[in-house]
Amino acid sequence: MLPLLILFILTSAYAENCSYKYEGIKLSKRSILTIKGLPTNLVINPNNRDLFFTLIDIDTLQDDDVQTEMDQYVLRDGEPIKIDNINGQAAAVDVIKNKVYIASDDGLTVLNKSDKANFVAFKDEDITQLFKPVNSDKLYAVLFPESMVYEIDVKENEKTKIENVPCAFMLAVDAEENIFFECDSKYVKVLLKDFQEPIEFVGIPKNSARAITIDDKNRVILAANDGVYWLKSDSLIPKKLMNLDFIPSGIAFYGENLYLSTSGVIYEFSFTVCE
Ligand SMILES: *[C@@H]1O[C@H](CO)[C@@H](O)[C@H](O)[C@H]1NC(C)=O
Ligand SMILES: *[C@@H]1O[C@H](CO)[C@@H](O)[C@H](O)[C@H]1NC(C)=O
Repeated sequence: MLPLLILFILTSAYAENCSYKYEGIKLSKRSILTIKGLPTNLVINPNNRDLFFTLIDIDTLQDDDVQTEMDQYVLRDGEPIKIDNINGQAAAVDVIKNKVYIASDDGLTVLNKSDKANFVAFKDEDITQLFKPVNSDKLYAVLFPESMVYEIDVKENEKTKIENVPCAFMLAVDAEENIFFECDSKYVKVLLKDFQEPIEFVGIPKNSARAITIDDKNRVILAANDGVYWLKSDSLIPKKLMNLDFIPSGIAFYGENLYLSTSGVIYEFSFTVCE
């Protein structure tokens, strides 16, 4: 019986491994971290492969009477390291300057060599989201409680409100400065550069957007409850790239790899083992 059992385990492991498809190409999946809580806001520093994430305490998230607790972490060489000197809520990487910004409930900070957050600007501001386009000096931030989007000039430390985005719970900005966002857990929209009125994408179920990022080909990628979509600035219909059988809470890309998180785990999806 034993050899048959081993064969069965091997076969099912292989099937599980290459059962996902991204743009029609098979992917393998492995867990790179298991941790208690909900890892969100996945961001990778391509200079050293550090993976930043915000870990949300699920008990406080589900309790309406208490404030949701969260901590900012960096996953380095397989080890989660907590950024413990602030209440971190999101991270963004300036790839060219190799600088990591951490948003906190008390302003904007940068991470130093010993993984401590050092205050930069906007004391008393509760910053809940950050986004840094690769080829621009601008940093985008979302401020609590209105969830309005601000463009930050990091040289002058000045912020300007983006009037035509009503609110954002998640956002990404492409190389053409089109702003893709989700507001009030309802819809996914894009505000095209120099336009006044955001446009809504069709076909994505309501309340299903979970995270937005930009991939290595400068495409805007949305992780939603039912799968991964490519959002284009010249089409109202997103292109579905992948079906998912778990609810994602964060998404990031690094080279040939795709990272998706869900409750208690961060997965790495890779193309190489299934070819
Ligand atoms: C899939 O394959 C990779 C590489 O061979 C391995 O590390 C990983 O554990 C496998 N995952 C599963 C779910 O079997
Ligand atoms: C990083 O910041 C912390 C807190 O401000 C400070 O104590 C530490 O000396 C700094 N480390 C480096 C390498 O600058």
